[in-house]
Amino acid sequence: MARSEWGIGLVGLGGIAQQHLEGYRRRGLNVIGGADINPEQAAATQERFHLSVVTQDYKTLIDHPDVRVVDINVPHTALETRLPVVEYAARQKKAIFIQKPLMSYLDWAKQLVEAAEKQGVPMMVNQNSVFAPGFLVAEQYLRDPEIMGRIYYCQIENRAWVDIGPERWYAKDKRWVHADMAIHHFALVRHWFGDVDSVYAILDRDASQQHVTGDALGVVTVRFKSGVQAVLINNWCYRGNKARPHSGEEVVIQGEKGCITCNAQDVHIKLANGQELMPEVSGSWFPDAFGTAMAHFVDALDAGQSFHCEARDNLKSVAMIEATYLSAMNNRVVHLDEILES
Ligand SMILES: NC(=O)c1ccc[n+]([C@@H]2O[C@H](COP(=O)([O-])OP(=O)(O)OC[C@H]3O[C@@H](n4cnc5c(N)ncnc54)[C@H](O)[C@@H]3O)[C@@H](O)[C@H]2O)c1
Repeated sequence: MARSEWGIGLVGLGGIAQQHLEGYRRRGLNVIGGADINPEQAAATQERFHLSVVTQDYKTLIDHPDVRVVDINVPHTALETRLPVVEYAARQKKAIFIQKPLMSYLDWAKQLVEAAEKQGVPMMVNQNSVFAPGFLVAEQYLRDPEIMGRIYYCQIENRAWVDIGPERWYAKDKRWVHADMAIHHFALVRHWFGDVDSVYAILDRDASQQHVTGDALGVVTVRFKSGVQAVLINNWCYRGNKARPHSGEEVVIQGEKGCITCNAQDVHIKLANGQELMPEVSGSWFPDAFGTAMAHFVDALDAGQSFHCEARDNLKSVAMIEATYLSAMNNRVVHLDEILES
């Protein structure tokens, strides 16, 4: 079956859905339409992307016979916003593609996974960091032992000042940057380095960002079962003029034979013998990673194969969110098994 036969319906046509639609357009994916409870948002998106089907009722969209993949882009901060959409799509036997974070709390995320599994429908979490062009290129090198040797360390750093107004629902969540943003890095390093053993975190915020309720700054150290160690820095209250804002975070991966320094658009490799590699990267995180992620899902569904960022597996990334907040609150190392087995 062709990709074009996997009709996509988007539930939630807000900020990030615009990036999805642009990414899907570039990939030639088949968008049937969208639903949004905000009629102005729905109308503006319909006009911009010439969508044939647009409704305020997600059930009408999901019921459309040509919609086979439901792309869920409603906020993740309340279970009652996402769970009914997942349950309805699952009951209608539609495949589900859902924005990261699956939920900011593990017990909520488990309810979404169980709703999809109960109906036997596949669900992929749109962890688009895994599909960002520079990270896809870097992955080819980091998986090559001839290039990297034994990998022992990874560092990701994101720093910028974010002006958050009162209209921003996400910054009002008690769990902000490490549920909403660091989840990009949690999923990425899990994809690269496998299961996590333990996490130790410090979190903070700058009180002058008056519309931020939760954490806006954090350093999370991660030990993987494979022996790799990582430091993940998300600093969204950096006033300096050397910012590295998302989606330009810098990633460093060190192996005994090679060192990769990259971001979503640029990759540099320095080998122990002094040789330097600068492979070409085409595209950018926004919007290309969104088109690539959906194309990956549709192709896997079409071929009846497994896919990256499957929702039950993604619970281990959500568990890193839990471990981060627990570690910072209690000032102690938190083992992932403690979270996953509770
Ligand atoms: N890089 C990324 O992957 C990335 C970037 C930004 C946001 N996100 C995620 O995407 C999600 C949405 O974020 P956003 O920035 O687009 O938010 P947003 O507020 O701009 O858009 C959300 C939209 O959902 C609509 N909505 C809410 N409930 C609905 C319902 N029951 N039916 C139909 N529509 C409904 C709202 O009216 C709104 O237009 C969040 O979970 C966020 O974390 C991911």
